[in-house]
Amino acid sequence: MSDTETGTPDRNVLFIVARATNGCIAKDGDVPWQISADLKRFKRLTMGKPMVMGRKTFDSLPGLLPGRRHIVLTRDAEWSATGAEVANSAAEAIALAGDGDYSVIGGAEIFALLADEATHWEITEVHEDTDGDVFMPAPDPAEWAETGRECFPAADGWPPYDFVTYERAGEPSA
Ligand SMILES: NC(=O)c1ccc[n+]([C@@H]2O[C@H](COP(=O)([O-])OP(=O)(O)OC[C@H]3O[C@@H](n4cnc5c(N)ncnc54)[C@H](OP(=O)(O)O)[C@@H]3O)[C@@H](O)[C@H]2O)c1
Repeated sequence: MSDTETGTPDRNVLFIVARATNGCIAKDGDVPWQISADLKRFKRLTMGKPMVMGRKTFDSLPGLLPGRRHIVLTRDAEWSATGAEVANSAAEAIALAGDGDYSVIGGAEIFALLADEATHWEITEVHEDTDGDVFMPAPDPAEWAETGRECFPAADGWPPYDFVTYERAGEPSA
């Protein structure tokens, strides 16, 4: 499916991540926060569509997430896991995702690898500098425009956070 004027796909490819002010997204193989509203938002954004992820992110999941395909990037030709569709390259992952909307759910390596595919970033901006071991940059303001922001106070022991949508600068809303 292509936009006939631009030749670019007219589907939505959501890059979804929770990211601290200092760029941290993970500590010790897991997401550093368990903010229940964020988990609900993640479910709503991903439900019913293929999810593309790195093997390390797949390993960090509590299990298969119902109602969503799991397309897992690995360089290991022998790797397999129940419920995972294996891709050994970016092109294979994109082909497996098909022509419709899909999500990219991390981690940092896969966001960087597939960066050109993103139509939207859906970022939970967590307002703290978090101690961790996986970091990633924020969307480049020269390329991405903020089109939505919901702000939430600290609660349940977690820091304040915002749900923020970014779309490619200069492009109409999907
Ligand atoms: N805060 C959040 O919202 C969020 C979101 C997602 C993940 N995370 C966290 O981030 C951490 C993982 O992130 P990460 O950046 O370290 O790893 P990752 O992106 O999840 O996975 C990296 C793996 O992807 C595979 N890979 C990378 N480039 C590839 C390529 N060109 N072709 C084929 N396969 C390729 C390799 O798997 P092999 O080693 O098997 O070859 C590589 O080790 C986890 O702790 C997870 O919990 C946080």
